Amino acid sequence: MLDIENLKVEFKSHGRSIAPVDGVSFSVGRDQTVGLLGESGCGKSVTALSVLRLFPMASKARLSGAIRFGGRDLLQSGDDALRGIRGKDIAMIFQEPMTSLNPLHRVGKQLAEMLGIHTDLPRGEIDARVVAMLERVGLARAAQLVNEYPHSLSGGMRQRVMIAMALLCKPQVLICDEPTTALDVTIQAQILDLMRDLKREQQTSILMITHDLGVVAEMCERVVVMYAGQVVEESTVTDLFDRPAHPYTHALMRARPALDSTPGAPLTAIPGSVPPPGQAGPGCRFAARCPRAQDVCRKEMPPLEEIAPGHTARCWYPH
Ligand SMILES: Nc1ncnc2c1ncn2[C@@H]1O[C@H](COP(=O)(O)OP(=O)(O)O)[C@@H](O)[C@H]1O
Ligand SMILES: [Mg+2]
Repeated sequence: MLDIENLKVEFKSHGRSIAPVDGVSFSVGRDQTVGLLGESGCGKSVTALSVLRLFPMASKARLSGAIRFGGRDLLQSGDDALRGIRGKDIAMIFQEPMTSLNPLHRVGKQLAEMLGIHTDLPRGEIDARVVAMLERVGLARAAQLVNEYPHSLSGGMRQRVMIAMALLCKPQVLICDEPTTALDVTIQAQILDLMRDLKREQQTSILMITHDLGVVAEMCERVVVMYAGQVVEESTVTDLFDRPAHPYTHALMRARPALDSTPGAPLTAIPGSVPPPGQAGPGCRFAARCPRAQDVCRKEMPPLEEIAPGHTARCWYPH
């Protein structure tokens, strides 16, 4: 459904070029949910923004590789073609709903605009679909809500409005960038349930960006683990949890509280931090933080290799 091939994103920074996404490849199949996992600063959001080219105006991003969708390469598509795809075929949900919602317009108007741009439906039908979708995402009093402004809603309600907006045109692909990170756990669980139900109803393919292994376990079939702008491991969710191969994935697992862990037992934080783009050495980008690192790891970049059917890892000494 969506094939990202050798994607590289470069920004000019202080006269030199940095690449926060550096040769990333993965696919999201039809009706599949793929998790994109990694610590903050690994390049997950930049990868997501590349698909619909949603970078801030000021940032002069240079993209190379290919992003294949529906028989074409989005990187080679013009702005008009992309505008036709955004929101209709591929929709995005962000961590912060106010990046998608306009504070100056009533909720109903913003949703109706989406359908107005992408469909020829008559006004009455559009309004009916907007109210129905708001009800579908669990918002009570939808008929009144359409007349309210985003600021009068709670964070959880805004997130639901944004999901409603994203799903209104029944997109084939939904890209969710940390959609529940800012919400408390109860609301988070409700929103994830909702997304699972909607996916079942609409057969949407989902790219679920998160740093939360719990979200991956609950929502995804496959996982792509990113580190410092590269894919370091990819497998099914079951394989990743049962047989994590890359030491970085191992470390992420140990940094996570388990239900059966002794109360009060310390979590193992990963020492150090993700090297900023352009500052990793020639070898494996995780080498400086890796308990298994040998000389070769610091000198030579390991290739991403298949270590079992459907399971790849970028490591000289995979588990
Ligand atoms: N517009 C931009 N210009 C320059 N650097 C950027 C820009 N956007 C993101 N970056 C850098 O790219 C790296 C990856 O960022 P990001 O994709 O947001 O990480 P993640 O979503 O995994 O937390 C960071 O080091 C960030 O500072
Ligand atoms: Mg991000």
